Amino acid sequence: MASVTAFADFGDEEDGTAFQPITTWQGWKAFADTPRLEAPAAGDAAWTAQALEDYHSRFVVLTTPSMKKVSLQLRRLLVLNRRQQGARRGLIVSGPPTTGKTTTLMELGRIFEHTDRRRHPRLKDRLPVAFVSVPPSATPKMLVSEFARFLGIPVHTRMNQAQITDAVCHVLAEKATQLVFVDDVHLLNTRTRAGAETADQMKHLGERVAATFVYAGVDVEHSPLLTGPRGAQIAGRFTLVRNTALPYGTTEQRQVWHELVGDMEEALRLRHHRNGVLEQHAAYLHRRTGGVIGSLSHLIRTAALISLEDGSEKITKKLLADIQLDIRAEQQERPR
Ligand SMILES: Nc1ncnc2c1ncn2[C@@H]1O[C@H](COP(=O)(O)OP(=O)(O)O)[C@@H](O)[C@H]1O
Ligand SMILES: [Mg+2]
Repeated sequence: MASVTAFADFGDEEDGTAFQPITTWQGWKAFADTPRLEAPAAGDAAWTAQALEDYHSRFVVLTTPSMKKVSLQLRRLLVLNRRQQGARRGLIVSGPPTTGKTTTLMELGRIFEHTDRRRHPRLKDRLPVAFVSVPPSATPKMLVSEFARFLGIPVHTRMNQAQITDAVCHVLAEKATQLVFVDDVHLLNTRTRAGAETADQMKHLGERVAATFVYAGVDVEHSPLLTGPRGAQIAGRFTLVRNTALPYGTTEQRQVWHELVGDMEEALRLRHHRNGVLEQHAAYLHRRTGGVIGSLSHLIRTAALISLEDGSEKITKKLLADIQLDIRAEQQERPR
């Protein structure tokens, strides 16, 4: 059975603790600290109406095939890089939108963080994982400022790019950061001067920081980030892992999809839902979603929330058929 896990609340505005993005170290630690919960059974008295809604709205993180693939590549790379002084190798997770790239990085980061804590139980002041997102229309200074923001380094307007970079490299070394995630790298348009210089800045950081870099972005292999003389430097140092929609051709592929649907179904906490109904409609669910986990999750979560609202507390094919999905999913479903 794949691991089905739910998370305790964190950063819930209602209980006064403001939401912290994971692109600050406080937000990242809060995310990594959020314990995995065993959700009580459907009908358990511990569930309030609100808790049930919150649970199905957030729902679970499942171990997907691409998560396993990225995890394996990353583990190999970390060993390979362990004794490297200079150019370390990195990983790019590339794929269509909402196929779970960011979720994969977050889950692997969380696991890495906990492994590091077990290895160094007495050292509290470590930041084994850093997580930043490329801002739109980034300049090198903006990118390195994102690192500074994650690390909590105050950036004064008078500080130049080199000074911020020095401070960032210093703190990353001090905090023993070993894994650096840079999300949304497709936003770097290396055809513009600012974008190209920002890519250079990423390379520079990769050389100065003794960590393994993992980038994620939409269809990076076709983006200017990997082409041209600058792109060649990245292309020569990074391994690319495709994070695709799940296929539904061979028997084996179908089995993987059925398992995923089954795992999601098992995570439901609806009083009148009979397990097996969703799995029975697995082919239909694949048609609707094109095998994209973001669309599948959207569909199931919406259905669960509607069934809580109208009191039926079960998911039927009719209910699924009435839900309109994201534009991409709706368009791909149209017969050609
Ligand atoms: N492993 C997973 N298990 C359950 N749901 C997932 C998983 N990965 C992604 N999702 C769902 O898909 C949505 C989009 O995922 P995300 O990681 O943001 O995709 P990407 O970064 O590729 O655009 C998430 O908000 C979540 O609802
Ligand atoms: Mg993302």
